[in-house]
Amino acid sequence: MKPIVTLTLNPTVDKSTTADHIIPDQKLRCAPPKFEPGGGGINVSRALKRLGAASIAVFPVGGPTGTLLRELLEQEQIQQQPIETESRTRENFIVVDASSGQQYRFGMPGTPLSPQEQQQVLITLKSLAEVPEFLVISGSLPPGVEPEFLMKIVRAAKSMGIKVVADTSGPALHQILQEGVYLAKPNVGELSKMAGVDELDSEAVAQAAHQLVQEGKCTIVVTSLGPQGACVVSQDLVDHVPAPAVKKRSTVGAGDSMVAGLVYGLATGLSVRETVRLGVACGTAATMNPGTELFRKEDVDKLYHWLLQQTLPAAAA
Ligand SMILES: Nc1ncnc2c1ncn2[C@@H]1O[C@H](COP(=O)(O)OP(=O)(O)OP(=O)(O)O)[C@@H](O)[C@H]1O
Ligand SMILES: [Mg+2]
Repeated sequence: MKPIVTLTLNPTVDKSTTADHIIPDQKLRCAPPKFEPGGGGINVSRALKRLGAASIAVFPVGGPTGTLLRELLEQEQIQQQPIETESRTRENFIVVDASSGQQYRFGMPGTPLSPQEQQQVLITLKSLAEVPEFLVISGSLPPGVEPEFLMKIVRAAKSMGIKVVADTSGPALHQILQEGVYLAKPNVGELSKMAGVDELDSEAVAQAAHQLVQEGKCTIVVTSLGPQGACVVSQDLVDHVPAPAVKKRSTVGAGDSMVAGLVYGLATGLSVRETVRLGVACGTAATMNPGTELFRKEDVDKLYHWLLQQTLPAAAA
C-alpha cells in the first residue's frame, strides 16, 4: 500500500491538564500538562498509525511550538513533511474540571500563512517522493488562507492522479467541492449548511448527498450522524450504517478517526459498504476513550466485525 498523505493547514499543539475545581479569581493548581499533536490531518495520520498504515503528514510549522509539534510526531513515529513558517504554531488548551468531569476546550487563532508559504505547501505536495493514491485534506483554514487555495491544491492533486478525501467545513468545504473530490465526509450539520436548510432527516440526508454526487462534486459522500452512525451515498448506492451502542466517554477525535477508517478501507481494497462500516467502527471506538484519546485497535476490530455480522452478513462470512 502506498503511504497516504494528509494535509493539515491549521495544526496545533494541544496542551491538556486537570484542575480540582475551576473557579474565578483564584490560582488554580493544575496537574502536569500533557502535550499532543493536533489538527484534522495530523489526527488522521495518528489514527492511521493505530490501524497499521503508513502516512505522511504535511503541515506548516513555526517557532518553538512548531519544534515541539515535530518532536511529538517523531515520538509517535509519524512521517512528516513540515513547511517552515515565520509565525509560530498555535497551542490550544484543554482543561478538565475534576469535580464535575467537564472538559473546557480553548482554541487559539491559527497561524497565518503568507502567500509564499502557501506556495511552498503546493510545491511540497507536487514534489513528494512517491505520488500517493490518497490525499486527505482535513481541518480548518488558518488566517490569510482563502478557500480558493484549496481548489488549487485539489486541482494539482487530481492532475497527478491522486484521489482527494475532504473533511472540512463552511466556505472551505463549499469551495473544495466546486473542484470536485473523491470522498467528502461532512457531518449532518455541515451537509445541511451546504444544502441551505436548517435540518435534514435521514431521507433528506441521502437526497442532499446524492445531489452532490449528481453535480460532480464528490464520487462518494459519507455523512456522519454522530450516535446515529453514518450514511454513504455514491452514484449507485445508498446505505445507512448504525453506530454500535457503546459506553461513550468523549467524542473528541471521532470525526478524524472515522476519516482514517474510511481512507484505510479504500486504500486496502475494501468495498464501499465495508469501508463505511470500518469508518463507523473507528469513530465509535474513539468515543469509548476519555479526553482527546483516539481509538484502540482492539475496539475497532470488535466493532467492525459486529457491524459486518449485524448489517452485512455476506461480507462477514
Ligand atoms: N455518541 C456517539 N456514540 C457512538 N458513536 C458515535 C458517537 N458520536 C460519534 N460517533 C461515531 O463517530 C462518527 C463521527 O462522529 P460525528 O458525526 O460526530 O463526526 P464529526 O461531527 O465530524 O466529529 P468531530 O467533532 O470529531 O469533527 C459517527 O459516524 C459515529 O460512528
Ligand atoms: Mg468533523
